[in-house]
Amino acid sequence: MDQPDDRISQIGSIRFRTGAAMPSRLGSEQLRDETTAVLELVKNSYDADATTVKIIFKEADGESILIIEDDGSGMTSTDLRDKWAWLATENKLSEDRSPAFRRPRLGQKGVGRFATEKLGRHLTLRTRVKGEPKVLRVRFDWDQLEGGKELSEYEYRVQRTNPKAFEPAHGTTLIIKKLRLAWTRPRLQKLRDQLCRLIDPEATTTDFKIWLDTPSAELNGHLQNPLPGNETHRLEFDLRSDGSESIRILQNEVESRQKIRIEPPEFGPVRGRLRYFRQGLQAAERGRGGSSDSDWNVGVRIFRDGCRVRPYGEPGPEGDWLQIYRARARYWVGGALFRLRPQYLEGTIHITKSSNPQLRDTTSREGLDANDAYEAFVEYVKRKIAKLSELVAEEEQREERARSQVRYSRALEPLAGGLSTLKSEQYKRAVESADAEVRRGLKLVEAPTSLVRNAHWECLDCSDSWKVPLDRIPTRCREFSVGRDGRPTTKPGCGSVNVRRKENVPRNLPPDPPGPELEDVLAGVPAYISGVQIRPIIDWEMGEQDVEAEIRPELRCLAINGRHLAFRAADRLWA
Ligand SMILES: Nc1ncnc2c1ncn2[C@@H]1O[C@H](COP(=O)(O)OP(=O)(O)O)[C@@H](O)[C@H]1O
Ligand SMILES: [Mg+2]
Repeated sequence: MDQPDDRISQIGSIRFRTGAAMPSRLGSEQLRDETTAVLELVKNSYDADATTVKIIFKEADGESILIIEDDGSGMTSTDLRDKWAWLATENKLSEDRSPAFRRPRLGQKGVGRFATEKLGRHLTLRTRVKGEPKVLRVRFDWDQLEGGKELSEYEYRVQRTNPKAFEPAHGTTLIIKKLRLAWTRPRLQKLRDQLCRLIDPEATTTDFKIWLDTPSAELNGHLQNPLPGNETHRLEFDLRSDGSESIRILQNEVESRQKIRIEPPEFGPVRGRLRYFRQGLQAAERGRGGSSDSDWNVGVRIFRDGCRVRPYGEPGPEGDWLQIYRARARYWVGGALFRLRPQYLEGTIHITKSSNPQLRDTTSREGLDANDAYEAFVEYVKRKIAKLSELVAEEEQREERARSQVRYSRALEPLAGGLSTLKSEQYKRAVESADAEVRRGLKLVEAPTSLVRNAHWECLDCSDSWKVPLDRIPTRCREFSVGRDGRPTTKPGCGSVNVRRKENVPRNLPPDPPGPELEDVLAGVPAYISGVQIRPIIDWEMGEQDVEAEIRPELRCLAINGRHLAFRAADRLWA
């Protein structure tokens, strides 16, 4: 009988090869869009210690071309062979800081150069290292690559040539022709916005300038990270890896500092700065064409080693990593209401590759991995924003109180001023009936059903808005809605879950209807103030120190204290 043969023998070996379709896989297919592609090449210039990179769109010989020119380190012919032409090169991983400026390098995956393939079908690369009289030139025609062939079958000649006038003394220039995209004005605008945001607005250690040159003159020039003027609130935080945290708050130029200790963060140390522009953004800077959101460098952005991590803080849902555009009451830590207008919130959060290793890139190239550390990090930043929201809410409440004091003492003036024309008995009765009003009002407080206070919600899909009792949070459009009187209404909603609480925008109240005559008010007939029906009352419990008058919206009355003119006048009349 035959024995089964269980010996192992080698019959050959295999190796990985790379198909000629690789550049297009890594370029056209992998990169999200052309803007991302340009950013990728600008990052390469940054990594190469450039101080200036120019992005030029121009027409030459009836053809559109894109040039990305930097004054960085350039490449030697060995660099071209071992770095530029080596796929998935890891040279930036082994040397993660740039040699001249010690910049933390942004590249790591070794595929960024194929962004040139996404942008156009032809590439001419010109590069020169410092002190070298000649320029090295290589031309690539991406369309030539045929599927089914091996990438290594294609050879590209490296030529030495004379530098052109105005070519930087060292650096790399990418000349991209046969562009795949027509760079219309809106696209250029978007690119400009992205380039502006790439650089940390507060970076001082890196001197890196981006210039844009396009057929649209108003987009051109040295790009800067625009900051929208003076904020009313600023919160800076610095969290160390041991959990010690220092916070600095500037509220309308009043500073306060705080040092606390929390659990050591699993996501590592972070520092950041949040700014809120309660008075809005400076008008002069606003509406410079393009979409209103993208004109502004608002949003809470993450910077890693001084460079932007996209898409965090981009306008729109994709960049809304803190869910602030859809903030709902329940979302915010400690049940605090989200009182900020997202379009007036700006922030920068700083992390580094070396001290926040848990916060790492997703393989899809944009954004961070949604792991536990990332979740905890988001939660932490949210708490900081909630703190800012709290400060703003408190301030708004204080101001609202002050405003109503002014409003209602003004409303009381005629009450006091008109006294001389009135008989004392009449006033006395009025005050007494007002007092009865207070007592009645206090009873109303105990019967909350008659006191409806509503929040306003809106649907982002069908733009409908409706009222909701303050203590309830709808999850879909018109899930429950009430009328002015607090009774449920039956109008159906569109069913969308894309709903949010409306901000408290000052309403344009209708002019007050012609009110009752003074005598009537004094006799306890309600008057209208800013469209709200109000009864005058005297609150015997109110402080005696200063003249006080305040609105009690829940009682729909205005209360005055014993020192108020109206009261003192009545007092005199009684005596
Ligand atoms: N503008 C440039 N100046 C100098 N060297 C460059 C430039 N662009 C690319 N290179 C070289 O080509 C290599 C490959 O670039 P890239 O594909 O973007 O990968 P990565 O940036 O992740 O290393 C870089 O590591 C660098 O050595
Ligand atoms: Mg790169």
